[in-house]
Amino acid sequence: MTGIFDGKIALVTAAGAGIGMATAEGFARRGARVMLSDINPDAGNATTERLRGEGHDVRFLRADATCEDDVAALVRGTVAAFGGLNIAANIVGDAHRDASGPDFHEQSLEAWEYTQAVSLRSVFLSMKHEIAHMISPNKTGQGGGVICNVTSLAGMLYVGAAGAAYAAAKAGVVRLTKFAAVSYAERGIRVNCIAPGVTPTEAYNKAGAEMGQMVIDHLLAFQPIKRVIATSEQADAIAWLCSDTAAMVTGHVLPVDGGWTAQ
Ligand SMILES: NC(=O)c1ccc[n+]([C@@H]2O[C@H](COP(=O)([O-])OP(=O)(O)OC[C@H]3O[C@@H](n4cnc5c(N)ncnc54)[C@H](O)[C@@H]3O)[C@@H](O)[C@H]2O)c1
Repeated sequence: MTGIFDGKIALVTAAGAGIGMATAEGFARRGARVMLSDINPDAGNATTERLRGEGHDVRFLRADATCEDDVAALVRGTVAAFGGLNIAANIVGDAHRDASGPDFHEQSLEAWEYTQAVSLRSVFLSMKHEIAHMISPNKTGQGGGVICNVTSLAGMLYVGAAGAAYAAAKAGVVRLTKFAAVSYAERGIRVNCIAPGVTPTEAYNKAGAEMGQMVIDHLLAFQPIKRVIATSEQADAIAWLCSDTAAMVTGHVLPVDGGWTAQ
């Protein structure tokens, strides 16, 4: 798919690690000029420098995706740096460590609020400011822009380990995606999301490598294709949804899940 994003300007949040990093790489290697963003400047700058070393036109802006001022400045900064905004991948999402597991009757409001902010408010704020720059009077669906969000299998079906707060937030991402897809279709903006299956990143090792492997083994028991999914495989799905070959695909949730949701 080399070159499919030639001339396009893309914005990627959570670009310092995991699926966001792979997505920024995927966009840049297919020809886009990319604004990478992350709350962690060291991680974001490291990815950006690596991609620059490959000859890509990429930049980094630090932003906390839960903070409206940061998100507004990020979108303004992208437009100012590259002259526009055609593609956005809103990848920030996380669960508070005290908001996991099937029982939530003793979980704190703080854990709930953190999870909603990082996983749902971030997507609302990103879309709000991106769409304001993408709106086009052209009603054919061409020329406005395209957005890809990231939900989770937990936002679609019961995954006890993920916790209620994360499940509710990610279900919100699905509805926000579909709502925006319909609302802005006639103004040239497509909006989709992917739902990743077991895709190990640094986050899986938060509580140690051994615990991370136990979580992966536990989750793979539910996934028909018995191997972990690469971050690049999630990024490939995002790239397709954001490409012109998906010009009539909007409001779609694409599971990249080794068959989990087919059961
Ligand atoms: N990895 C999986 O198996 C999996 C499965 C389902 C859904 N997801 C979703 O995919 C997305 C990416 O997950 P990942 O596993 O690649 O994550 P990750 O933990 O590997 O990377 C997350 C990145 O987001 C950044 N970040 C965290 N909070 C932020 C904030 N408030 N503002 C800006 N940046 C912030 C971090 O600094 C980090 O660089 C998330 O929305 C997650 O919920 C992942």
